[in-house]
Amino acid sequence: MKTYNCIIVGSGIAAMQLAHHLSHQCRVLVLTKSVKQASNSYRAQGGIAAAVGDGDKAASHYEDTITAGCHFHNHQQVHRLVEKGPELIEQLTASGLSFDQDGTGQIALGMEGAHSRKRIVHCGGDATGKHVMDHLLASLKRNIEVIENRFVYELMMHPLSKKCVGVKAKNENGDNEIYFADHVVLAMGGVGGLFSYTSNDPSVTGDGIALAYRAGAELVDMEFIQFHPTLLYVNGKTVGLVSEAVRGEGGRLVGACGTPVMAGKHPLEDLAPRHIVAKELFEQRMVGKDVYLDISMIDHFENKFPTITALCHANGVSLEERRIPVGPGCHFLMGGIVVDAVGQTSIEGLYAIGETASTGVHGANRLASNSLLEGLYYGQQLAIHLNKRFVAHEIESRVDLFTKASLKTMPSLPEKQELREKMMAYAGIIRTGSELEQLAKWLEQYDEETISLDEWEIEAIQRLFMLQTAKLITTAAQLRTESRGAHNRKDFPEENQRWGHIHIVQAKKGIEMREQHHEYHQVEIYA
Ligand code: SIN
Repeated sequence: MKTYNCIIVGSGIAAMQLAHHLSHQCRVLVLTKSVKQASNSYRAQGGIAAAVGDGDKAASHYEDTITAGCHFHNHQQVHRLVEKGPELIEQLTASGLSFDQDGTGQIALGMEGAHSRKRIVHCGGDATGKHVMDHLLASLKRNIEVIENRFVYELMMHPLSKKCVGVKAKNENGDNEIYFADHVVLAMGGVGGLFSYTSNDPSVTGDGIALAYRAGAELVDMEFIQFHPTLLYVNGKTVGLVSEAVRGEGGRLVGACGTPVMAGKHPLEDLAPRHIVAKELFEQRMVGKDVYLDISMIDHFENKFPTITALCHANGVSLEERRIPVGPGCHFLMGGIVVDAVGQTSIEGLYAIGETASTGVHGANRLASNSLLEGLYYGQQLAIHLNKRFVAHEIESRVDLFTKASLKTMPSLPEKQELREKMMAYAGIIRTGSELEQLAKWLEQYDEETISLDEWEIEAIQRLFMLQTAKLITTAAQLRTESRGAHNRKDFPEENQRWGHIHIVQAKKGIEMREQHHEYHQVEIYA
């Protein structure tokens, strides 16, 4: 059988870092659903967290990560991630990427929520994602083939070995294509597009989660979804992110009359962990109160935050009054596909990296600017792992083109917008058992147990994948009868020690309450 060495599905930071670090001998195919710039990574305003500042230590970054995520992490993985942070920044600098500098020529460091000191590096002010991604995309070697507008709808499994051996995809004409590979990597982002309020790129609708689940892989911690407190809020809708870096520069959340919203709510006030600020803003909005980000104390706001300035202008929000209307929305999935330290899933030949994967580094609530770092770290780790397993063989770029999609009768599936609204209302920032049950019942009326999708159109498959992913989130949120980090149950408002080491693992074969005890790394070990 002629195959690629590696197929990467997705084109965000983890995908491109992997492609960048794979051996030049390795024939790599990148398949992306839309254009390669359509990713959450490309949109990232906040930067990359790393202990690069004078006097900063990985130990301190570790402590902040663990505290923000409510001690629900794989501590060893967090330890490795934060230790590697400075080296990853150095590598990007050495390869020609310029991070923003302060007046002395040092990398300028920004502040974000739940960090104990300034630790965030940026490019182009609030356009870090764009700069990093343009840099990685521009430095791809000739062994990397990128095909845009390919919707991967099935992972191909060997019937005997049960190994993942390739993918089926649909092109823009709806024709089906098959691609084989020694290794298949899912790097398809999270689930933001399942919620009506989100900071995510509209193309991010949980496809990686649904693909992995349908193939039999294990998923974990699907109830842990982070809502970002400050999305630009216009006419009852959220229309894009207003970075936490604005609060890091002194911006304050205020009510209509200027009263500080976070005063007395948490010792870190506006820079409290995200789930705390998001919940507060949600409660304000629920009682009909508007919330604004007061930027009057930030000099040269338009220069420091060009992306946010453009977003405000595009949406008719004038910055003259020096306050920006904000509201919370879905931002990041902490759970995802179960992986080991290099991204290997529970299926041989199948890997996951980036937000699609659950590496255990974010716990119950991700620390600000740790996601680009995670993408860089695991993209590189997986490249090192796969380079050791490189096998030279003949390559054929596309193996087969077959049946054009021609779905005659549409199965009963939820409308995308209806599903998004239901998810936001019942599985959003504050959850209750009875609302989750209502949501589960609504989702159950639709059947996702379809065997072959060859004849389906992309739109229908997307709705099916959204349904599948919504069911996984809802089930996990129903089962976890406590509040922890981003999972907020009004009927179980406290953290429950009994749940402290329990991870809800879901797979086609069933649900498992998996007990995992991760050793807490004493900071002295590497301080
Ligand atoms: C932000 O800029 O507020 C988002 C950064 C992140 O998600 O870490």
